[in-house]
Amino acid sequence: MSAANIPGDTQKPIQAAVIGWPIKHSRSPLIHNTWLNQLGIAARYEKYAVDPADVTDFLRSMPERGLLGCNVTIPHKTIAYETADNCHPDAVAVGAANTIWFEGNKMCATNTDIYGFITHLDASAPQWRKADRPVTLLGAGGAARAIVYGFLQSGVTEIRIVNRTRAAADELTNIFGPKIRAVDWHEMQSALTDCGVLVNTTSLGMEGGPALEIDLSPMPDGSTVNDIVYVPLETPLLAAARARGLVAVDGLGMLLHQAVPSFERWFHVRPQVTPMLRDSVIADLKAHP
Ligand code: ATR
Repeated sequence: MSAANIPGDTQKPIQAAVIGWPIKHSRSPLIHNTWLNQLGIAARYEKYAVDPADVTDFLRSMPERGLLGCNVTIPHKTIAYETADNCHPDAVAVGAANTIWFEGNKMCATNTDIYGFITHLDASAPQWRKADRPVTLLGAGGAARAIVYGFLQSGVTEIRIVNRTRAAADELTNIFGPKIRAVDWHEMQSALTDCGVLVNTTSLGMEGGPALEIDLSPMPDGSTVNDIVYVPLETPLLAAARARGLVAVDGLGMLLHQAVPSFERWFHVRPQVTPMLRDSVIADLKAHP
């Protein structure tokens, strides 16, 4: 387990953290330390690389370490959910937790990815709700599961899951019921017809990785394309959406907004996602890709 460099004030005690494996590229310390500094809170947010074998011990030891709580990222979200004593319904629905805090000696967990995704979509493309059309997701992993639940909570009545491995899409149908329709990967184009929002939850399009091959022409005019990949910020998918005149929503907003309820849990103040915060994360992504 190792503590990495952070942008916080080293004179302040570490009271919150993010754990993952690896964790080097996490921007959560930048986000939370910016808020701690702005709000004048005498605390610091650290990042820890925690080996999968050590996650439970780390989580249980947080009070002794002086930590009020932590964020949890890949690949520890499922074990964090399983380790917690009390889970918020959002964590239960997704089977994964990204935020941990303590109430007395009880470890509590929730999943703020759902809130982060929907809040950013609402802020960036508010018209998506009025369209009242089916939603299409590419991918059926952990991120897709949170996003499916967010759309169901928002009243979406048809969600098409297009996944390379059909069984994973079928699994989401089993979990979430008849509003979910599994679609084979090679039928991707047909899933775009009448679709109001398309979300890429796969890693395709990520810098240095394989591209996402898709033709957006079947999507209706005025529809929205959201990529949860944020390195690069403007993915080829988002560029293609803009070229087609569709509304393009980037993946960085989800990261920024999911941090808000976590911070509020620990420090009892609701921080703001501002253009300045967003710009500083973008600058950091450019400086340290
Ligand atoms: P996350 O928690 O970010 O969702 P994950 O649970 O590992 O990560 O899920 C990754 C998703 O990206 C999966 O839907 C995966 O498809 P499979 O179920 O077929 O593995 C999808 N994915 C990853 N690489 C892919 C590729 N080269 N082509 C198509 N889909 C891919």
